[in-house]
Formats: sequence, structure tokens, C-alpha cells
Amino acid sequence: MPSYFRANIAAMTGYAPGEQPQDQGIIKLNTNENPYPPSPKVYAALRKAINGSLRLYPEPQSNVLRSAAANVYGVKAANIIAGNGSDELLSMVLRCFVGPGGRVAFPHPTYTLYDTLIEIQDGVRAAIDYPADFSLPGTLAAQNAALTFLCNPNAPSGTLVALADIEKLAGSVSGILVVDEAYVDFAASEGSSSIPLIYHLPNLIVLRTFSKSFSLAGLRIGLAFASEEIVAGLMKVKDSYNLNRLSLVAATAALSDMPWMARNARRIQKSRKKLSAALRRHGYQVYPSHANFILARKPGLNLKPTYEELKRRKILVRYFDVPGLQDCLRITIGTPKEIHALINEMAALGN
Ligand SMILES: Cc1ncc(COP(=O)(O)O)c(C=O)c1O
Repeated sequence: MPSYFRANIAAMTGYAPGEQPQDQGIIKLNTNENPYPPSPKVYAALRKAINGSLRLYPEPQSNVLRSAAANVYGVKAANIIAGNGSDELLSMVLRCFVGPGGRVAFPHPTYTLYDTLIEIQDGVRAAIDYPADFSLPGTLAAQNAALTFLCNPNAPSGTLVALADIEKLAGSVSGILVVDEAYVDFAASEGSSSIPLIYHLPNLIVLRTFSKSFSLAGLRIGLAFASEEIVAGLMKVKDSYNLNRLSLVAATAALSDMPWMARNARRIQKSRKKLSAALRRHGYQVYPSHANFILARKPGLNLKPTYEELKRRKILVRYFDVPGLQDCLRITIGTPKEIHALINEMAALGN
């Protein structure tokens, strides 16, 4: 296994490759999964789909899922491509638009997989530091990049860039702009998605995942929204059967129960507010989060010991051992009970 993959897995999960948290008592707040289960409609559809047809290959273009998504998001099915998680879509986008030496720009810090994928393509990374308030860096558009990533809301900060700024950015970058909206369903205000912009911004690709707001991280489903031309290009690089039969069924069923997803997102927003307030009382600086996690900072204090002590107490949060983030913890919003346990342990640590 290449070292960058090994490092990535260990950093993302808190465990080495092959090592899994076996202990049921662990409170897992480190990989931004949804603490609530998927819709009952997903279970019912999966049960119905478990039959002899599993011997057959899945439908290769995910047409049923794409039509359902087209209805929900108000676009045409031809503007959508489905992937095995949005990670697969990210990898397809890189393969399509970035060759060796190709420049890829993104504001930093952000989702760490962008770096790994650029390295795999032998691309050149142009990481532009976010200002202290995580607003869009002014020089991002001028990087002469084949591809620009914007994670919105951003991971790990949870901060959100306004649509007007994204529109301006798409109009001024030289290549493709990818807006990764893995967390947008948790945004404080509706109407934060860039999907409607695909019709007048021909260089825009918007990514969504079912792993977060739809509680389906285990089934690996993502969607990309873009012009018909871009979607047709991405179709050419995708594996023939990139989504399995059960994932297709589950995703389609999840889209038939949007109120379930929205209700869970609201519960997470409520817990996010509570956790942010508690951590601020403990002296943390907490960024205004529009995601299902928060980034909490104790300026100048390395929080590795706090992360390790929480791990010893069976609470996993995310610590980034990289310059600029060592005084931060990223904490996934769990159930109220999990959040309560975390707040108690942090109080006990004097943190
Ligand atoms: C910003 C961002 N994009 C994409 C993904 C990957 O999502 P998926 O599970 O659909 O591959 C994640 C997962 O944590 C993420 O944080």
C-alpha cells in the first residue's frame, strides 16, 4: 500500500489499516457519519431487493437513481452522474481533467483526499491558505489551474461560502470548478447549494454524497451535477458497474423520503448549537459550522494530549497533526447522549 494511502487511512479513522474500533462502547465522532439511521423506506426497499436478481449485474448508468435525483433537485437526468461515493467522483474528475503537471488549486486547509488524488495524478497542487475567518482567498481564482476545488461547507472548518462568491469564482477561474457539497444539507439556511448554477456556469461540477445527511456511508453513493457535456465526459471514465444493485436501490429509496433526511439534519443542527456553546464556555474558539461537525480551537495549544485522553476514554474525535491545525479538534455531531458524554469528559479533563 502506498505510504500516502496508509497515512490517509490512519489520519482519517484514528486507526491503522486493518485495525477497526471493535469495542461497542466507543463513541465515534471522528469521521462525520450521521448518528441517526437511514429512512425506514431504505430498509424496506433493500429487503425487497434481496432476491435472485442479485445474480445479475446492476444497471450500468444508474438511470433510475438519476431520474429520482433529477426530480428532487430540479435538473435533468443528463446533468447527473452517480458514483461509488463522492470519493469515486472526485477521482473520476481528476482523471478527466488533470494530467501529469496539471495544476489543481484549492483553499487550504480542506478535505485531505484532494491532496492524495492530485499526487496520484502527478498533478501540481496550488494550496492557497484560507484567511483566519475562512472566507474565500482572494488569489484562488488567479492560479491558472485546470481544476479548482471548493469544499462548501468546508471540512474541517464547517464554514460556508456564499453563492454569489462561488458564481464569481466560477466566472474567473481558468478551468473547472468543483464544489464539494458533502455537508450542504446541514447548512444553517436553505438555498446554499450551487446545483442550480450548473445551467449558466458551464465549468461547474457540484458533488453530493449519501454518506452524511442520508446516513448511508456504508453503501457508498455520490452524485455529480454538471452540464450535459461534462457528465457525458465523466461517463466515459467511469467503471461499467460502479454502483451495486443494493446501493442503487437504497439511494433511490432515500430520495423518496426527503423529510426523514431533513428531520435528522435539523436534530444535528440543534446538537451542533449545544456543543458549540458548551465548548465556547470551556474557552474554545468554535467556527460557525454549517456541517455535521465543528472545529474547536484553543489558540496556540497543541490538543494532541486532549485527543489522546479522549481516545483513552473511548471517545474518538479528529486531531490533525499538521501545522495550523494542531490547536484544533474536529468533532462530529453525534446523538444528544454522545454529545453530553463528550462535554462531560472534556469538563473532567479541565478542557
Ligand atoms: C468534503 C468531503 N467530500 C467527500 C467525502 C466523501 O464522501 P463519500 O463517502 O461519498 O465518498 C467526504 C467524506 O468524509 C468529505 O468530507
